[in-house]
This record gives sequence, structure tokens and C-alpha cells, in this order.
Amino acid sequence: MKKTITPFYDPLLSYEDNYEQGPFGDFAHSPKTVIEVTKPSHFLNLSVNLPFGIPAGPLLNANYVKAALAYGFDLCVYKTVRTKAHKSHPLPNVLSIHPKGQLSHQVDTVLADRNYQSPISITNSFGVPSFDPDVWQEDLADAVNAAKKGQYVIGSFQGTPGNEATIEKDYALAARLVAQTNAPILEANLSCPNEGVHKLLCFDFDKVERVAKEIKNAVPDKPLFLKLAYFASDNDVMPLLKKLHGVVDGFSTINTLSARPVDKNGDPALGHDRPAGGVCGDAIRWAGIEMVKRLARLRNELASDFAIIGVGGVSSAQHYQQYIDAGANAVMSATGAMWDPNLAFEIKKNIIK
Ligand SMILES: Cc1cc2nc3c(=O)[nH]c(=O)nc-3n(C[C@H](O)[C@H](O)[C@H](O)COP(=O)(O)O)c2cc1C
Repeated sequence: MKKTITPFYDPLLSYEDNYEQGPFGDFAHSPKTVIEVTKPSHFLNLSVNLPFGIPAGPLLNANYVKAALAYGFDLCVYKTVRTKAHKSHPLPNVLSIHPKGQLSHQVDTVLADRNYQSPISITNSFGVPSFDPDVWQEDLADAVNAAKKGQYVIGSFQGTPGNEATIEKDYALAARLVAQTNAPILEANLSCPNEGVHKLLCFDFDKVERVAKEIKNAVPDKPLFLKLAYFASDNDVMPLLKKLHGVVDGFSTINTLSARPVDKNGDPALGHDRPAGGVCGDAIRWAGIEMVKRLARLRNELASDFAIIGVGGVSSAQHYQQYIDAGANAVMSATGAMWDPNLAFEIKKNIIK
């Protein structure tokens, strides 16, 4: 087992306290050493030191993003924002989970507690909180500005039903607000279950097509990624890829696998009003890699050139390489990075000889 490290997001504190007081652990201090990259890679048409970073979620604000950039995470996604303020779920938001063997994609029941052990898997349940745009726009612009040569800050956003006449328009408004901060790349989160409990937005292909086109209309000049959930077969996702051919620039995948976290008595660990939660970390790496392989295969079949950001269970240089070998153009780690702030340096040490 790896030595215990203080995570940069404290699962025992509320989202609001993490926002105010974090980041924690090493991220609260400058790194002791820095690994320089002499031969940058390409991601889209950009030169990036290493196409590795942190996906939407753990980087709550500019303080977190600045720490991540300093620790060599060259692609940093600012936590998903909305067009209006939205409250976080109460604690608990992050619990350790202990699946027996590999977690399936069929909403397994898993033991959840506060015993955060390596290799780490967690359930996260926030409800995608956001401040009002007049708070996050200034902060996101500050984060975007902090990127050094070969680094990029990506703006993640999502629409909220009821904020606008249509969800499509609210996604487009969110995209415009993010673009005003100068974020060079946009990512629309389509894989959060808040658009309907039974159906993630990314499974409604007609709606996704309308949302993507509305965003592209609103912001035609920035690369657009869509954040997708796990799809269990090529046939399940191919129709979506066909609809989006030439519309979007890439896909970021996966988000989380749903599970039912329970405490040792078998009661819902997140509370009776939240029987299910998204699982991330080690237990979902198989699904992330499988999904990246699937997209890479279908990209070939479609003679398309969309980019793939591989996400899910990365906590070592070996995992990074597995995603690259599967066809990812970039790789990101949320859970792994939270518990190992030096992960980007470790990967750079191992990958760049
Ligand atoms: C604390 C936390 C918060 C998250 N919040 C978001 C979010 O706001 N938007 C989003 O698209 N994904 C969110 N995610 C999902 C991650 O971006 C990622 O897809 C998922 O955690 C799988 O990667 P991992 O196994 O490296 O953690 C969050 C994940 C974590 C751990």
C-alpha cells in the first residue's frame, strides 16, 4: 500500500469549507522540485507539455487550479459551472467504497465508509454546485491566466432545467459565459444524472445533438468537448457519434459508474434521499479504458478526427500509458490526483526519458 497522503480536497469538510479553505496537503505549498518537459506533445492544435491533467470536479476554484498547474498538471478543468447559483448536497459528499472485485456498470451495491485506502475508489455526490456567474467568471479568468507555457485551463459547464426556456439555450448561455473568461477549450458535462434520475442527458441522442449545435452556434471559435458516461457497446454509442460528426471537437470519458453505496448495516451511506452515487477511482479504470478503446475504434470507422480525453482510475504512469495505448489524446485523473498531488511529476519522470 502507498503511504497515506493528505488529499488536496478534504472529504470530511463540506464543499463550501473546501472552497474557502482549500486546497490542502501538498497543494497548499509550492512543489519542492519541478519536472521540466523539453519535448512537448500535441493536443488538438496546441502544444502541451504532457497531455495529462485533472478533469472537472476536484479543482473547485482558481486556488486549486493554480496549485495543480504548479504541480505539473498541464490540462486543468475548472469544476463544472452553471448559469445560476446552485447549492451543493450536504455532507457526506465523498466516501471511500470497497467493491468486491471489479465494479460492474449495473448499479452494484457497495460498502462505503471513511476508510480511504489505496488503491482508492470513492463515491462522489455533490449535485454539481455552482456560484453565480459574477463570482465564477472572475475566478475562472484568474485560473485561465495562471497557465504557463504548454498548459491550458478548460472550462466545464452544464445547463440547468428551468433556468432558460430550454435546456439547449441554458447550455449555450453557460458556454458563452465561460468563453468570456478566455478559457481556450470548452467542455459540456452531459453525464450528470441531474437532468432526470433515470436518464443521463448523454443517452438522449436527439437532445445532445441539439445542445451541441446550440453551443457551437453560441461559441463557434472554441474547441468543444462533451463529457460522456460509459456506454456498454459500440452499437450503443455509434448513433451518437454519427449525429455529432463534424459538430464537436472531442469527447471526455468516462464520468462515473453509478452504484448504491451502503454502510455496514446496509443503509444508504449517502442518506435515504440519495440511494445512488457516482463511483470513481480504481474500480472504474476498466470502464474508462474500454470506453476509450471503443471511441478510438469508432473514430477510425467513421474516418473522423475527434480527440479523446481518457478519464477513470488513473493513479500511476502505467495507467496513463494504458489510456494512451487505448487511443486517448489526453488523460486525466480526479480521484488518483486528489490523493497523490505529485502524480503528474511521477508520470513525467516515468514517461519522459
Ligand atoms: C470530487 C469530484 C467531483 C466531481 N465533479 C464533477 C463535475 O463537477 N463535473 C464533471 O463533469 N465531473 C465531475 N467529476 C467526475 C470526474 O471528472 C471524473 O470523470 C471521474 O471522477 C472519474 O475519474 P477518476 O476515476 O480519476 O476520479 C467529479 C469527480 C470527483 C472525484
